[in-house]
Amino acid sequence: MDHPEIVTNLKARMQAELDRADAGSGPPNDFPSLPPLAPGRYTSQEFFDLEMEHLWGKVWLYAGHVAQIPNQGDYVLLDIPWATIFMVRGKDDQIRAFYNVCQHRGAPLVREAEGNFSLLRCTYHQWTYNTQGKLVSVMYEDDFGSDFDKSCLGLPEVRCEVWNGLVFVNEDPDAAPLTDWLGMMSEEFDPFQMEKLRPAAIKSYELTCNWKLTMDAFLEVYHVKGIHPETVGPALNERGAVMRLLPNGHTCMTCPTGYTQVEEMARRGYEADDGAMEPIPLSQIAAEVHVSHNIFPNVITPVSATSRQLLMFWPIAKDRTRVDVVHLGLDWGDGELPAGWKTHLDFWDVVMGEDLQFLEWQQKAVVSPGFKGYRLAYPERRIYYAHESIDRMIGPENIPDELKAEPVLEDWCEHPWHRAADPYEANRKAAE
Ligand code: FES
Ligand SMILES: [Fe+2]
Repeated sequence: MDHPEIVTNLKARMQAELDRADAGSGPPNDFPSLPPLAPGRYTSQEFFDLEMEHLWGKVWLYAGHVAQIPNQGDYVLLDIPWATIFMVRGKDDQIRAFYNVCQHRGAPLVREAEGNFSLLRCTYHQWTYNTQGKLVSVMYEDDFGSDFDKSCLGLPEVRCEVWNGLVFVNEDPDAAPLTDWLGMMSEEFDPFQMEKLRPAAIKSYELTCNWKLTMDAFLEVYHVKGIHPETVGPALNERGAVMRLLPNGHTCMTCPTGYTQVEEMARRGYEADDGAMEPIPLSQIAAEVHVSHNIFPNVITPVSATSRQLLMFWPIAKDRTRVDVVHLGLDWGDGELPAGWKTHLDFWDVVMGEDLQFLEWQQKAVVSPGFKGYRLAYPERRIYYAHESIDRMIGPENIPDELKAEPVLEDWCEHPWHRAADPYEANRKAAE
């Protein structure tokens, strides 16, 4: 994000948002009213099934970090509700992903979150695969008959690509390559040097609500004064937040802060610890303001001076969701986590408690006749854009009219030419 035009553009746009707020004026000229979202988008089995069919099996999904699989034979398991997939570093050092499904009768091949194997033996009837997914031995093979051909029974491979140290999978064999999917967002991550990091902790939360309620909660900062008055609220100046809507549903928020990232860490008491967490590289913008990308559809990446977080939202059922938070930090070498991590993780426990507190209530609301629609304002436009993007993946022709999110933000989606210094000039051009 250190491209000079991006920095200039973002600073001008944050100032424009602050000026707009000071002047008490509404959204910029031409910004559309956002129609209320239909409650059925969060409650109906039909919409959930459409998402399963057209969204989840076709998008790139974060599956792990390369630091979890540094050695040949190391694997990491992605246990998502509709599939079980593992990534393994092969004897040729290549990282591949396979369905975790024995080709005999479907028993799981790995069951731990991480591990290492040289040969992968199914513990049910001992069929054995190598690190490249090839079926290498079958117990009592002759009993399967003369036409049995184990060379055709390797593990089915899943598309797997690594970007910035992050391993992604895609179940769609025809999907565009990962960096094409990420588009202009891809280069913005370069200064963050994610490949130098390592997961320090992974926390999961299971909630009785639709996955989009959990995602929506992390796509805006309109809420910070309400539910984070003593944690992240004082640090963020939400009135200056810029929400960039990027191609393919991705978005990025930059939000002015009352403190630099380093000062913010000190404010939270991180320096008081003996083993302080080591600062990790920030882009010029991220050193000064809060930056958080949304890798569509389900990853949010808030940045701080000493850690990166990956928040993921996984649908389990139409009203059940698992939220995973991966905390990444600079490699601390052998031994225990630096003591500063305890302060960090304790702080995140409090913030997550604040962020998740209303979601199950909101699920009761969206099924209630007392709720007429999910209303969003200009500062919440990232949420509306995420819903529009979900509909684009599903195909509007497949969605019942009463459940659609009418597309109104297409002209506000940014392209590389959008880096002009005038924050709204490009939008105006697009609208003409
Ligand atoms: S299910 Fe794996 S060997 Fe039988
Ligand atoms: Fe929050």
